[in-house]
Amino acid sequence: MRKKVSIVGSGNVGATAAHWIASKELADVILVDIVEGVPQGKGLDLLEAMPIEKRDSFVIGTNNYADTANSDIVVITAGIPRKPGMSRDDLLNTNHKIMSDVVSKVVQHSPNCILIVVSNPLDAMAQAAYKLSGFPRERVIGMAGVLDSARFRAFIAEELKVSVENVTAFVLGGHGDTMVPLPRYSTVAGIPITELMDSATLARLVQRTRDGGAEIVKYLKTGSAYYAPSAAATEMVEAILKDKKKILPCAAYLDGEYGIKGLYVGVPVKLGSKGIEQIVEIKLTPEEKAALDKSAAAVKELIGVIGV
Ligand code: LAC
Repeated sequence: MRKKVSIVGSGNVGATAAHWIASKELADVILVDIVEGVPQGKGLDLLEAMPIEKRDSFVIGTNNYADTANSDIVVITAGIPRKPGMSRDDLLNTNHKIMSDVVSKVVQHSPNCILIVVSNPLDAMAQAAYKLSGFPRERVIGMAGVLDSARFRAFIAEELKVSVENVTAFVLGGHGDTMVPLPRYSTVAGIPITELMDSATLARLVQRTRDGGAEIVKYLKTGSAYYAPSAAATEMVEAILKDKKKILPCAAYLDGEYGIKGLYVGVPVKLGSKGIEQIVEIKLTPEEKAALDKSAAAVKELIGVIGV
């Protein structure tokens, strides 16, 4: 039977995720939004692209959550995006309200789905969705580490003039200014990047990764990034639907792992058909651990504000 993925929010991130998922023929896609007409129009447009792409993904847009019933995965992108000068944290209260409404409807129609949260501020919204859904932590995953790592990988590949395929990178922590790129675990064809570039270059790429979202907001002015964020969510969808057991950095609810309890923070996890099948604990240096703790403290402050 075909897999079913619903995407809540038919803005740039949601619609582009629908595009990637349908064009990879991963699942049928339901695009749902409260705005009338936009999900229907974008969904139909995508459906009409499928004969050209030679893909049998069925795509439909709707305002009715009943159409999302029994989804395998629901990707939540709903929420307002950043404007120039805004931090992800400035979106907190508005997007929390949206999340409350969305999660209750999603859960009602797809009680067994896996939730992938993409809305910002990411870690706090993942925590809100976890609490609101009542799902086990395996089934509520935040997308951010894949995006932040992809940005780091793109910058490393550009700097060293090597294939992006040769570059692996890990970015842990919250999806915010305190995120923790880990050069020690970032490699080019297995060679740690610390062997391949001087520390000033490395520091520049790390900073550009931290500012990666803001760099794009500054260019776009009226919204934030969407190609890479939606591609990142799609990689997670693919890992789950194909039960790939793929290790990816994602926001996960920690229950003592990494010495952090009761909080969503970005860490390496194994994604398979059950969602998060393992939280991978890697050894961190005291400096890396301190940076992760600082990032966790920033997430904790946000969830304190919305009380989740
Ligand atoms: C970014 C936003 C979407 O990092 O969080 O581009």
